Amino acid sequence: MRGARTRRNYPGACSTSRRNGVYNGGKIVKENIFDTLLSRPSLFLNKEILHHSHRPTIMPHREKEIERIAFNLVEALNGQIPSNMILYGVTGAGKTAVTLHVTNLLKEKGEQMRRDITPVMVNCRQIDTQYRVLSNIGNSLLEDHEIDEIPFTGWPTDRVFKELIKRMDARKGVFVIVLDEIDHLVRKAGDDLLYNLTNINSFLKDSRACVIGISNDLKFTEFLDPRVRSRLGQQDLLFAPYDAEQLKDILRKRASVAIAPDVVSEGVIALCSAFAAQEHGDARCALDLLRVSTEKAEQLGDKKVEQHHVRMAQHQIEADQIEPVIAALPTQQKLVLASVLLNERNGLKNIQTGQLYDVYDQACSYLNIPSLTQRRISGIIANLDMLGLITARTISRGRYGRSKEINSCIPQNVETQQILTNADENMATVFNNRYRQQRPL
Ligand SMILES: Nc1ncnc2c1ncn2[C@@H]1O[C@H](COP(=O)(O)OP(=O)(O)O)[C@@H](O)[C@H]1O
Ligand SMILES: [Mg+2]
Repeated sequence: MRGARTRRNYPGACSTSRRNGVYNGGKIVKENIFDTLLSRPSLFLNKEILHHSHRPTIMPHREKEIERIAFNLVEALNGQIPSNMILYGVTGAGKTAVTLHVTNLLKEKGEQMRRDITPVMVNCRQIDTQYRVLSNIGNSLLEDHEIDEIPFTGWPTDRVFKELIKRMDARKGVFVIVLDEIDHLVRKAGDDLLYNLTNINSFLKDSRACVIGISNDLKFTEFLDPRVRSRLGQQDLLFAPYDAEQLKDILRKRASVAIAPDVVSEGVIALCSAFAAQEHGDARCALDLLRVSTEKAEQLGDKKVEQHHVRMAQHQIEADQIEPVIAALPTQQKLVLASVLLNERNGLKNIQTGQLYDVYDQACSYLNIPSLTQRRISGIIANLDMLGLITARTISRGRYGRSKEINSCIPQNVETQQILTNADENMATVFNNRYRQQRPL
């Protein structure tokens, strides 16, 4: 059984001593930490199967969507042009995975039937200008021996477009151009790319193309010119979020090949699914939870994944998501957040705006930077509240008017002070100084 194997059988592994060193021909050899780690049995059979990059070929609860896309794309095998499509749905609804699965099958069938069919997929979050998308598609059509790359930048866009058309005509056949996360590009750069690509058949002579746009934003067509909207949206397909029961089926299937038998109970699958279902039915989130829970159990030397590992995993994932948010705060926002922490470090709860401002003002003077007005600080407080780093509740103090009660709400396992200091070394000065505290009113 692969899962139960121990990784001990390699030259040089020393497992005889549990202490720090082993006696070896008169020398004390320090035990290498990796020996201990490698000799532990793994709970995973194949961890990669739980990673985002893995592309499953069996996708429960997406049979209808697979069929709808295939029903349209079969036209390419019949020598016709498939309709353009828009696929919508929340993140983690399986849009990318389903599309890749169907286009791979289409390519395979095309090769069997000796039809020229070329699917091309571009992620428009990473490749996010019209120029780059067109040049990327154009360069992906080069044969291995051709070296005439369209440059990364520098040509006029219509020259790139003409070159793309030339290359498509040279290849012939039907192209399925998939623009993944297209909402991102449209919001950033407008809909010129879609305008041009959905009109490409009027320029092509010896080939044909259809466009599939994938969007995480359900309202994305509102950003489109009505002509582009009607040309692209010849067929719309909505990927509904998964519910907890569906997520359970997805996890069970993936767990059965990724994790050793009897390691994950039905209760653990149910808990991961329930958490992910609360989080808008995101399959990616469910898979992450299952993977990190199993890693936690493995780190602790446990033989089974239990529900408390899932809770630990959830905390860790939450912390991993929050860290970049804190690190990327602009300086003034970092200072306001630090002022909340400094007040709390002094035992204060329900911090009032005036108390916060007082510490913030002192912190600015330690750094020799001008402090912002109270009014601007109120805006920053609202922003930190929106990011989920603090809670700011408005309270009425009778004739003294209204104030805010501020508390941090960053999970305890997040080392906020450390993150702030790593991101900006001046923050060390802020945290290492002493502060006069204002008394609450
Ligand atoms: N029905 C399903 N069966 C198995 N895995 C799925 C299913 N739906 C989504 N996944 C997995 O969940 C993750 C997110 O899916 P993805 O296609 O990237 O979502 P989207 O593109 O809608 O954001 C991927 O790892 C994918 O393999
Ligand atoms: Mg996607």
